[in-house]
Amino acid sequence: MKTDVIIIGGGAAGLFCAAEAGKRGRSALVLERAEKVGKKILISGGGRCNFTNREVSAANYVSNNPHFAKSALARYTPQDFIKLVEKHGIEYYEKKLGQLFCRDTSRRIIEMLLGECAAGGAQIKTNCEIKSVRKTDQSFVVETNLGSFESESLVVACGGLSFPKVGATDLGYRIARQFDLKIEKTRPALVPLVFNDNRLKEFGKLAGVSLETTASFGDAAFRENILFTHRGLSGPAILQISNYWQPKEQISFDLLAGKNAFELLGESRNSRQELVNFLSQHLPARFAEKFCAEFAPSKPLNQFSPKEIERLAGVLHDWRLRFDETEGYHKAEVTLGGVSTDELSSKTMEAKRVGNLYFIGEVVDVTGWLGGYNFQWAWASAFAAGQYV
Ligand code: FDA
Repeated sequence: MKTDVIIIGGGAAGLFCAAEAGKRGRSALVLERAEKVGKKILISGGGRCNFTNREVSAANYVSNNPHFAKSALARYTPQDFIKLVEKHGIEYYEKKLGQLFCRDTSRRIIEMLLGECAAGGAQIKTNCEIKSVRKTDQSFVVETNLGSFESESLVVACGGLSFPKVGATDLGYRIARQFDLKIEKTRPALVPLVFNDNRLKEFGKLAGVSLETTASFGDAAFRENILFTHRGLSGPAILQISNYWQPKEQISFDLLAGKNAFELLGESRNSRQELVNFLSQHLPARFAEKFCAEFAPSKPLNQFSPKEIERLAGVLHDWRLRFDETEGYHKAEVTLGGVSTDELSSKTMEAKRVGNLYFIGEVVDVTGWLGGYNFQWAWASAFAAGQYV
């Protein structure tokens, strides 16, 4: 069977690219290993798919080349995707920070993509195991359990390594390696972090406690909630900072984000209130107790020396925790690293050294923040390739 384009992977990027190629009159075939397409879309956003963010720029992405995503993001914007969603009558709402979710279910996004694919005449084959990929002078030949398929262009859209239980495989990286393309080291991202055994003994009892902090690593800082779990820390601030954090390094937490601890403690300097009760006005009580046990045995505030107050205020704004590792790919929303952007055209996503071979979506070394940015990259990179394949 011969088509103009074969797309490996029927996820967000693959389906959208097939639809775009179809609009240009190109015959497209999507080969999907799972029994259904779009499984990650279905579970995304807690079942409501945070399909984009109102404000997106390259600054919301981590990549070895922070400029690479600019071109594709500029040519297919959140507003373009919102128009498509509205054209399909999908109701949505903004949850917070520009994050747009389906009001009903993520399934609407899959139906929309399938509708767009059908309109463009794209074909989809599921339960398709890719056995090999090879390039001839004129085309690519993909051998599968469903037979042999040939195309002029080949798009690799089979995602990263995160969430293997919904079908993630390393095929995209293997194809890149087969064609001698560089791969930036991959690791789990948007992922909870785990405490070492000692820390777990200290903090395990706080499981379920959540507080607003600013979590920082290097120049990156996110003001959102952290959540103590039975194994470590999770919550949006942790998932966000995990994109920047390096293994075995410390993360700094401002526990009184937006407040001035020195001023607050100074104002209460003459009070007989116990420190733990004072802190409980600003932090969850269970956390305040733990904090006092570690840093400043609780006593009335009027018994703290100015030096002690200064030190305490410093720790409240810069509480540091070291983490050795993450919860791993089975809990990670995305994969950091991937096919090096040095190898790809930022305009078309085509491999510079292998004509007609394209990489789009999560398999590429472009990883977004939490909040709809990863789907926007999937749409934008798929659109870019879809205009050329
Ligand atoms: P994606 O993983 O979507 O698709 C790849 C496809 O290729 C899959 O269908 C897979 O089965 C197929 N495939 C894999 N190996 C294959 C092989 N060997 N042969 C053939 N096919 C193969 N992002 C966001 O912006 N908003 C959100 O709300 C969420 N929520 C979220 C929740 C959870 C639990 C996870 C795990 C992830 C998210 N994400 C997210 C991230 C988002 O899902 C992700 O960035 C995109 O799905 C990436 O799109 P791709 O098309 O590149 O990969």
